[in-house]
Amino acid sequence: MAKKIAVLAGDGIGPEIVAEAVKVLSFLNTDMALGLSFETALVGGAAYDAFGTPLPQQTLNLCKNAEAVLLGAVGGPKWEALPHAVRPERGLLSIRSELNLFSNLRPAILYPQLVGASTLKPEVVSGLDIMIVRELTGGIYFGQPRGIRLLENGEQQGFNTLVYNESEIRRIAHSAFKTAQKRHKKLCSVDKANVLEVTELWRQVVTEVGKDYPDVQLSHMYVDNAAMQLVRAPKQFDVIVTTNMFGDILSDIAAMLTGSIGMLPSASLDANGKGMYEPIHGSAPDIAGQGIANPLATILSVAMLLRYTLNQPEAAERIEQAVNTALDAGARTPDIYSDGTTQVSTSGMGDAVLNALKG
Ligand code: NAD
Ligand code: IPM
Ligand code: MN
Repeated sequence: MAKKIAVLAGDGIGPEIVAEAVKVLSFLNTDMALGLSFETALVGGAAYDAFGTPLPQQTLNLCKNAEAVLLGAVGGPKWEALPHAVRPERGLLSIRSELNLFSNLRPAILYPQLVGASTLKPEVVSGLDIMIVRELTGGIYFGQPRGIRLLENGEQQGFNTLVYNESEIRRIAHSAFKTAQKRHKKLCSVDKANVLEVTELWRQVVTEVGKDYPDVQLSHMYVDNAAMQLVRAPKQFDVIVTTNMFGDILSDIAAMLTGSIGMLPSASLDANGKGMYEPIHGSAPDIAGQGIANPLATILSVAMLLRYTLNQPEAAERIEQAVNTALDAGARTPDIYSDGTTQVSTSGMGDAVLNALKG
């Protein structure tokens, strides 16, 4: 039986970048007889417009039944005034939560060809290869109670709850230590334990879990310092593990070290390796429809899909190598363009990767 890949393009640049990623995966599917089939569904604003909900039941069912999910991005100004419960972003968050995708791997790798595209000095970023492990189904994103209420004095109060159970911390810690074991065996846990009790518990549990991984060197850092260190000397890090919201923010910082937010892929995994794969960036409403978005983060997310869910490391490496070759050939979307290279469109970049794959 064919292995089903759920393809959720979403909003804004989502359909543009996903088309390129599917192009690449379809080629490998034939070339390497991977036995994949593709099924598309609506999510986010597109789903809200069609069905009045950002996550229709049939989309969720497809995600649950599929081998893996490939997602573009959701959201945009058109849906910003909607109540939170039906906003596009809630569709994405519900998939993460319903599928138990608690472990979010966000690798920030600087391709040597893009050293000049980074806003940081070459000596600060060249050779950069770090992995952010972001807890994805807990913390302030999902904590109860939440909402906006009217106080007795007539003013409104907004509130969210930052909460982590020991078991939630333990499982993401295991995931991070295992990730570090396969890399340079250094793990930095990022928290705000000097102020927030919940991350005091985080630090305590991560330290305990660390006893099972004596080969991994564990350190702790406060999140404000970590943000500064990521820009000052990012190569001091190997693997970073952190909470849902800190991970969201730190991974956008890390993205810029790689030249563009259009370069950072991600894998969101459950305990069994099932996963959703998406670029870390959003729907980029400011450039949607222009055919200039960088599809590489989504294409590299397909490589992660092949590696982590389909157990096809060779196919994953072929994609990563093809991205390298396309960059060597000088193909650049505007976000990574520099003198001496060639500006290409979104589909032009997809073609450059495809041509490299075809050899
Ligand atoms: P964004 O990541 O969409 O865009 C930030 C900036 O980066 C923009 O200038 C954009 O043009 C640029 N950019 C992003 N991706 C790019 C790419 N592939 N190539 C070239 N440039 C790229 O963040 P935002 O503007 O804060 O959010 C826009 C919408 O996206 C919001 O509705 C937000 O909620 C949503 N969002 C969704 C996801 C997701 O689906 N995973 C992630 C982040 C934001
Ligand atoms: C991301 C995005 C999402 C998040 C939003 C769109 C819900 O910013 O994937 O990084 O905050 O997790
Ligand atoms: Mn984000």
